Amino acid sequence: KNILFAVSEIEGLVKTGGLADVAKALPLALNKLGHNARIVIPYYQQIAKILPKDNAIKSYAFPLNLNITYQVNVHVFEHTGLTIYCVDIATLFDRSGIYGDDYHAFEDNGERFSVFSIAILYFFQHFATQLSFSPNIIHCNDWHTALIPMLFKHDDYWKQANCDTILTIHNGAFQGIFSKKSVPSLISKLGTSHPNYEHDVVNFLKLGIVFAGRVVAVSPNYAQELLTELGSHHLFDIFQQVKHKTSGILNGCDYKDWSPEQDQLIHTPYGPNSLEKKLENKKDLQQQAGLTIDANIPIVAQVCRLTDQKGLDYLIPALRELVQHKVQILIAGTGDPIYVDQLEFLAQKHPDKLHFHHGYSEKLAHSYMAGADYFLVPSLFEPCGLTQMYALAYGTLPIVREVGGLKDTVIDLAFDDATGVVFTQPDCSHLIAAIRRGLLFYREYPERYKNLQVRAMDTKFLWHDSANQYLELYETLLR
Ligand code: ADP
Ligand code: GLC
Repeated sequence: KNILFAVSEIEGLVKTGGLADVAKALPLALNKLGHNARIVIPYYQQIAKILPKDNAIKSYAFPLNLNITYQVNVHVFEHTGLTIYCVDIATLFDRSGIYGDDYHAFEDNGERFSVFSIAILYFFQHFATQLSFSPNIIHCNDWHTALIPMLFKHDDYWKQANCDTILTIHNGAFQGIFSKKSVPSLISKLGTSHPNYEHDVVNFLKLGIVFAGRVVAVSPNYAQELLTELGSHHLFDIFQQVKHKTSGILNGCDYKDWSPEQDQLIHTPYGPNSLEKKLENKKDLQQQAGLTIDANIPIVAQVCRLTDQKGLDYLIPALRELVQHKVQILIAGTGDPIYVDQLEFLAQKHPDKLHFHHGYSEKLAHSYMAGADYFLVPSLFEPCGLTQMYALAYGTLPIVREVGGLKDTVIDLAFDDATGVVFTQPDCSHLIAAIRRGLLFYREYPERYKNLQVRAMDTKFLWHDSANQYLELYETLLR
């Protein structure tokens, strides 16, 4: 099968979160299974820095005549084993941010991603022969590419092509809701009176859910949650309507990038049989963070986008209490300035207990995974979550809230096959209680703690399995 993976970020080139990890790992896994999966992504300035257009294998140019004319170039690159089509529309993507400047979204995001989507369908229709690649599946991801299914269903060429669309929802909270006025390209393409527009706004994700051949949530439990009032991100009615074509496929973990045995980014590689070497990473982390170097002080770490989703709202008050314990807390990430300020303030106040690093890099994420004893994921909602899988692989026990994919991947201390700590209520006192349970377990039962580490490291979430489930879906769609 020819699979075109339409996405707005990809690990190694441009990344704000887990979507990027999936955009690299899933196509690679599909190709390993003998299929031909390729990526299409906007040619952001960040990508141009790594893949200058002069290095493209080939470039194609065409004008896109919408209400205004966009000059489109598509550059083809072979990069880390994948064919990547970069859609170069300078007026929309040649700027310093991906979705916005600092913490403010670009005002023309609706226009940017609708033109991107229109350009994709145009390009793979008109250049299919030259490319020797005609997609059988256009695999869309999140709101950025969620308009494709609707455009597809309204296009005579695509309607009769041997092709269909799938929409994977990585994060239903971001829907791409724009005033109609701000997406003139779309309006000129489809006319103003389309029945599926709301009165004066367009909701990209909602349209994707309605028109895609299949809708996939990134974990089975998240698929269930989307069918509830509370978990549906205000799309309850829509998800009820599309129940028959919605399912959940758990993301995998990329063990090529995330294996402590062969990790080049950490201080000392280690495995389940050499857990003592994990301590070298702990010492290194303590040193880097300017904390007391002591193997007996448990480290609780979190690396994430600093947003409401990740539970920062109730984690921060919990920290004020937790600094009373024998513990070192390390938090790193970028995001909401409110949380950045609060974390900086607390870290200054408790320099021996709490370390905050405002920033993100792969190296940092890896060294936190390797050096910590517990990894925190107290999310309000979490479609899948990858960091708890990485933590498991590093024998760093996750403390997670029982929600979304976290529920599908971590088993609480109370069970025989435990791999971490799980709590239910998203509030400060339950989070504190969960962390205390973890700290107590670490202190009182070092042998059992070690057994759990080994079990965690043996737990595998293979992309091979997820890719097979996607393939089954593709086949039912094309049948
Ligand atoms: P989400 O996609 O909601 O952020 P995931 O757990 O699925 O959550 O994936 C997070 C991925 O993004 C991990 O690879 C993690 O290391 C990385 N990451 C965490 N924080 C940041 C950040 N501030 N900027 C970029 N990537 C980040
Ligand atoms: C999203 C979700 C996260 C998921 C990731 C990859 O960003 O927030 O839970 O793991 O996408 O699918």
